[in-house]
Amino acid sequence: MRYFIGNWKMFGVPKSVNILNKINSFHTKDKNRKKYRVIITPPYTLIQTYAKSFKNKKIYIGSQNCYQKEQFSSNTAAISPYMIKSVGAKYTLVGHSDNRGEGDTDTMLKNKVHFALKNNLKVVFCIGENKSDKKNKKTFSVLKKQLTKVLDKKFDKNNLIIAYEPIWSIGTGKIPTKDELEKTIIYIKKILKKIFKKKSPAVLYGGSVDGDNVKLFKEINEIDGFLVGGASKSSKKFIDIIKNYYR
Ligand code: 13P
Repeated sequence: MRYFIGNWKMFGVPKSVNILNKINSFHTKDKNRKKYRVIITPPYTLIQTYAKSFKNKKIYIGSQNCYQKEQFSSNTAAISPYMIKSVGAKYTLVGHSDNRGEGDTDTMLKNKVHFALKNNLKVVFCIGENKSDKKNKKTFSVLKKQLTKVLDKKFDKNNLIIAYEPIWSIGTGKIPTKDELEKTIIYIKKILKKIFKKKSPAVLYGGSVDGDNVKLFKEINEIDGFLVGGASKSSKKFIDIIKNYYR
């Protein structure tokens, strides 16, 4: 199973559901539809209505983040995994670099993953090195730390997906070389197999994915799918990624 996840970030109002309708009608007719799953993570404000609209369809709705406490608390503006699950989301991202940049620590991330899984949300855990890590050849050690500090062997690997998103690639149009990316994904899977006793969760790539460069990424069989930002805000661009991946 491959995954095509569209992360809308701070984008979308109720009528943006048009985009999902178009993706859904493409997916319904696509001869390859059984080979992949489409997940969209709109902002919190749209989760409930979108989850309702697509309840019996094949597009899954997820959250972009969750708070590190389980149910209710006195933290202003915080949204817990329990609350997210209660409005119909099936997935949540955790550890996106945008949120790490705003102060998410490894301990907070561990709690987020734990409580999200406990509330039956599937977790897409994001990792990735920044530009200076890459320049200083620290990519592998940074990724290893991000994985081992947060992921616990007790977490259910079947409900966990890892998204490798190099920060220097997000929204920049810059992508790793095929060789670099292949080695990195293999390395991530090696670490995951150590944590989870031989079986690695799915590992996705994210960072400036579009309908053109996906042709290069599809040559790397170890990539189990994509976490798409910018291009997921246009049904055409998002559909092109899927089409070109299976072409
Ligand atoms: P872009 O596809 O816009 O580079 O964003 C990637 C991302 O951050 C998805 O979570």
